[in-house]
Order: sequence, then C-alpha cells, then structure tokens
Amino acid sequence: MAYYLCVGLAFLLTTSAEFVWKHHNNEQLPVVLEDVHRRCPNITRVYALTEPSVCGVPLYVIEFSDNPGFHQPYKPEVKYVGNIHGNEVLGRELLLGLAHYLCDQYNSRDRRIRALIHSTRIHLLPSMNPDGWQLSTDTGGVDYLIGRTNNHSVDLNRNFPDLDAITFEYERQGINHNNHLLKDLTRLAAPLEPETRAVMRWIMSVPFVLSAAMHGGDLVANYPYDESRSGAPVSEYSASPDDDTFRELASTYADAHADMASATRRGCHTTSSEDSDTYNFGKQGGVTNGAAWYSLKGGMQDFNYLATNAFEITLELGCDKYTKESDLAKEWERNREALLAYLWKVHVGIKGIVTDDSGFIQNAIISVVNITGPVPRPIRHDVTTGAYGDYYRLLTPGHYEVTANYPGYFPVSRVVTVPRHQTVAHILNFKLEPTTSWFDDESTFGLYPHGLRDGQPRIYKRSLYEQVANSLLERKDTAKQ
Ligand SMILES: *[C@@H]1O[C@H](CO)[C@@H](O)[C@H](O)[C@H]1NC(C)=O
Ligand SMILES: *[C@@H]1O[C@H](CO)[C@@H](O)[C@H](O)[C@H]1NC(C)=O
Ligand SMILES: *[C@@H]1O[C@H](CO)[C@@H](O)[C@H](O)[C@H]1NC(C)=O
Ligand SMILES: [Zn+2]
Repeated sequence: MAYYLCVGLAFLLTTSAEFVWKHHNNEQLPVVLEDVHRRCPNITRVYALTEPSVCGVPLYVIEFSDNPGFHQPYKPEVKYVGNIHGNEVLGRELLLGLAHYLCDQYNSRDRRIRALIHSTRIHLLPSMNPDGWQLSTDTGGVDYLIGRTNNHSVDLNRNFPDLDAITFEYERQGINHNNHLLKDLTRLAAPLEPETRAVMRWIMSVPFVLSAAMHGGDLVANYPYDESRSGAPVSEYSASPDDDTFRELASTYADAHADMASATRRGCHTTSSEDSDTYNFGKQGGVTNGAAWYSLKGGMQDFNYLATNAFEITLELGCDKYTKESDLAKEWERNREALLAYLWKVHVGIKGIVTDDSGFIQNAIISVVNITGPVPRPIRHDVTTGAYGDYYRLLTPGHYEVTANYPGYFPVSRVVTVPRHQTVAHILNFKLEPTTSWFDDESTFGLYPHGLRDGQPRIYKRSLYEQVANSLLERKDTAKQ
C-alpha cells in the first residue's frame, strides 16, 4: 500500500504484465521492478533509498549482481540515475526498460549480458524526483520548467554540497588534497532536500566506480567539471584531473548512441533563420565539458567525483524533456547499445587489493602518474581502497606509475600498461610493509628498482628516506615519554 503525502488518492496496481513502453506512474514503477525481480530472483534485488521524496514516494532502486545485496572484491559497482528533473522523463523509462532487458537477456542466456552481470554490480534508480514527475505529468508534460524541481521548489541538481569550490581553493593554494572532500565542507549553501540526502547517503555507502545521471532537453554527454574555476556563470572549459578519462567515458555513450555524435544532425536549439548553431553538440562528437556549456554549482556529477571514488557523467538524452509516449520504444532502440557500452566502461583501467601481512588495508591511497608521454604527468585525483582493501582506477590506454600509500607503511609503486578494448580491468595488487619493521628487515633493500617492467614492485628512494627519518623521529619521541 502506498500513502503519499501530497495527493489524496493513490492506487497501487497489484497486477503485473509484460513490459510495455509507456510512462509508468509512481505506483507502477515499483511494480515493474518487482516484476523483473520475480522473473530474475537470483540476480536482482529491489530496495528503496533511506528516505522518500518530500511527498513520501519511496526512491526505488533495482540492483543486478550474481550476489545481490553484497559488495564483492574485484567486482566494480556502477549506477544510473534517472528523472532528476521531474519533467525530464526519458531516463526513467529507459531504466525500467533496461531492467527488463537485462533480466530477459540473462534468462535467454545472452553471453554478453551474463558476462556483464557476473562481473559487475549494477544499480538503477529510475526516478530521483517522483514528485516533480507527478506535477509535470498532471500538467500535461508540456512545460520547460513545471515539475523540474522537487515539491519544495528546489532544483535537486543544484542542491548537492559545492565541493568544486573546495577543490579549486586547494588548487590555488597548491594543496594536493584532491579526493573525499566532503570532510572539508564547513557549511551548506542551502539545506539538503530529502531526495538529495537520500542519494548522498547512497553515494557515500556503496563503493561506486562509475555512474551516469540522466536528463533531457538536449542531446549530449556532459562531463566534469560542471562548475567554472572563475566562479562566474560563464562558459569556460573546466577540466578535472581526469579530463582524458572523462572525455573517453562521455564519448563511449555518444558514439554508441544512434546519433548523439553525428556531425550532420541538427542541434536541439538551432533556428533555421540564423546560424545559432553554437550548441549543436553533434559537431563536437556529442560530448561537452559541463562548464564549457554553462557553469553550475551544486550538481550531482561533480559531487560524486569529489566526495567519493565514483566517476559520474551527465547524459542529456534528447531535445524533448517530456518524451512522447509513442517515441519511447524508438528511443530505447537509439540508446540501448550506448547504455550497455557505458556499463562495460566500469571495467577499464586497473583494479586490485592492498594488503599487509595481516590482511586488507582499507582507505589506502592509490595515486597515479601518467608516464605515457615524454613528461610524467601526475593525475591529481587519488582513489582509496574499500572494505576489502579493493580499489578501482578508471584510466585510458597508456602507461602509468601507480603508488599505494598508507600511513605507517612504505609506499609501493608499480608500473602498468593499460591496454585498449578492456572487458576486465588489469589487476594490480599491492602488499605494503610497515615502516616500524624496516630496520629488522634488511631484505627491504632488495626492493629497489630493477627497471620498469609491468607490475615490478619498487619503493621510491626519496620517500623511503623520508619515512626512515620520520620513523627515527617517532622513536625518539616515544623514548622520551
Ligand atoms: C536460481 O538459483 C537456483 C539455485 O541455483 C536455481 O535452482 C534456480 O533455477 C534459479 N532460478 C532462476 C530463475 O534462474
Ligand atoms: C506539491 O504537490 C502538490 C500536490 O501534488 C501540488 O499541488 C503542488 O503544486 C506541488 N508543489 C510543487 C512546488 O511542486
Ligand atoms: C596519459 O597520457 C596520454 C598521452 O599524453 C594520453 O593519451 C592519455 O589519455 C593519458 N591518460 C590519462 C588517464 O590522462
Ligand atoms: Zn535536467
């Protein structure tokens, strides 16, 4: 039974049927998910986020995994979030269709879908803003703005903590603290809405690696940063440290979509009379940096990247915000390969486990230097290990030096080559030695570089001496007490 706060009557449909392409209302949405679960009980789980919308509608998620409900080491997690702006409805229906499709194909032994589900944990949140959807649907789905916000008139994609401001400030001061910046937030610009809070808790509690947020009103894959460094609401390219990787992620969606990347299509806002073709994104491969289009603060995309290990892009799925019901099946065909190709991208780059003699090390820091070109370039965005000591580092093809670091241990670096066309990340594990046993273990000297072969462990000389000096100082301090 569903009792929503903002409407008098809510009918819960209890009968399920074959999936049809139509606009599913807030009562039908969980019925579709439960129906998928009934047909694929071993590989799905339906759950709701920790709090509902303003009007009390639960925010439902369906998860696909061969071990639903559990994170497994070496198995990266990916999510799609639809209907963030309530009147942008295509993502919501595409995700219901995708859930249905994954289950069907799994059951009919589609090898590609089986391989995907056995190697990946996938979460689909079809609607982050069911109240906005309701209002926009009740008013005919025609307005560019009605139903965009939640029921408190707040734009949810402006309601996330502005961590861009923090990272830009650190950049200006030359401070290399570049990840998990929510800890550094001192105040919120505006109170968090229930939908934002629920999604933030979700983002912070599941170790997502990759994500896409779905919108409508244009046709483009948009990547971080969304906020300009100057702070002004201008169009100014605002590159993140992972600009190359983000461009490749966005291009993956655009290139696999029917015509997002087509240079010959019309722009969504092109008028025939004049050449106002500035935002015909087809002419730039169907992708754009967020701030190069227009700068915004408080978006979900940059929050994912700056608060967690997740890389999120924003998909504008079409010129229409409220897609006509009769176009939904066609839009599914136009997006299906892109939706699947993007999910596979969670397997690019490297992954591994950081351990010491006694087990996994959580919150170890994985930093990367790009050594593909003549000049080594540090990628100033570290990722951290999760509960099983596991990390996932999305990277484009090339050569990298990867360092695992944890306080009280010697950092260990390895060189790795990321190949093209990966369907599984290159595995690179690290075993760390505590600094305190350094003097007892002369064999540590044997870890000096023997060249830069793949996976060859080596310890930085400079940091080695720093660590020794530090451990000597620490010993003196403790001896004094
Ligand atoms: C679920 O797994 C069980 C045990 O492995 C198996 O017997 C059953 O057929 C599976 N069900 C489906 C729908 O795949
Ligand atoms: C909130 O919901 C009520 C009931 O559905 C609706 O009448 C009202 O317009 C909504 N307000 C906003 C700002 O969406
Ligand atoms: C590393 O550098 C190469 C060459 O400049 C580039 O093609 C590649 O995209 C870079 N990788 C990342 C993740 O920045
Ligand atoms: Zn939007």
